[in-house]
Amino acid sequence: MTLLVTGGTGYLGSELVRIAAPEHPRLELRDADAVRHGFEALRPSAVIHTAYRQDDPAVNSDGSAAVAAAAAAVGARLVHISTDLVFDGAKPEPYSEDDEPNPLDDYGRSKLNAERRVLALHPDTLVVRTSLLVGRRRPGRQEQAVLDAARGERELAFFEDEWRSPVLVSDLAAALLELVESDLTGILHVAGAEPMNRYELACEIAAAHGLPSGRLRRGTIAESGVERAANCVLDSSRARSVLSTVPPGVRGRIGSTWRNGSGG
Ligand SMILES: NC(=O)c1ccc[n+]([C@@H]2O[C@H](COP(=O)([O-])OP(=O)(O)OC[C@H]3O[C@@H](n4cnc5c(N)ncnc54)[C@H](OP(=O)(O)O)[C@@H]3O)[C@@H](O)[C@H]2O)c1
Repeated sequence: MTLLVTGGTGYLGSELVRIAAPEHPRLELRDADAVRHGFEALRPSAVIHTAYRQDDPAVNSDGSAAVAAAAAAVGARLVHISTDLVFDGAKPEPYSEDDEPNPLDDYGRSKLNAERRVLALHPDTLVVRTSLLVGRRRPGRQEQAVLDAARGERELAFFEDEWRSPVLVSDLAAALLELVESDLTGILHVAGAEPMNRYELACEIAAAHGLPSGRLRRGTIAESGVERAANCVLDSSRARSVLSTVPPGVRGRIGSTWRNGSGG
């Protein structure tokens, strides 16, 4: 299999690069011709599309459509990464693949749009919706914000009424590498098995980096006045029935990748 990973310098992409050493050229996603030419030159048999920009619908939607069209043109299997934030968080129970998306913000809307365009252009695609990624030795943006707050260098409230399904990036990468070799298509939820709220997760991140949680401030979406999806827990039971590498929860495990000498 010739595997191509988009976003190979990113949080998830760099973990895939570390584990599987795929091709990972930086193809400019807003340039559909560049994407097509890149795919024609490399002729991958499989693609894991992780690249995105939180604040750029053109990258998320048009860029993903360009990847799907190029993958279809060279006959490559496509695994496309999406997000729990396609849901509005109003459902009290975890979201399954059959639940109706209703994103609340531009990011969620661009990712839902991408899902739909990708599946239309390349119907054999597997869309993997996941949740908060944690566990890289070099903190991502959200982890860095937690560490800054834990050190008292930043004023932030962590919502106790915002529930997600955080997943270790190494666990997700292993699952994706298994899924890219499967022939599953459609939408699959692959996230951590243990729901956590933002405050609990912040405490776990701080502890993994050897910081006390005493300075982490609790808050709620309601008192903050922001519009935020409250309960975006993903039900990954379908994934559990097809995967041998099933992501558990992250409690007590966030530092495990670097404590055991691996992890980027
Ligand atoms: N992080 C999370 O907690 C989380 C949660 C749920 C879902 N997801 C999904 O998981 C996927 C990976 O997220 P991540 O956190 O690993 O992303 P990330 O760390 O922000 O990395 C994004 C990658 O995309 C590349 N990229 C951005 N704009 C590009 C463009 N115009 N052309 C080509 N490449 C471009 C970046 O390369 P440059 O730096 O060179 O631009 C980088 O390699 C995304 O699909 C995201 O929606 C993430």
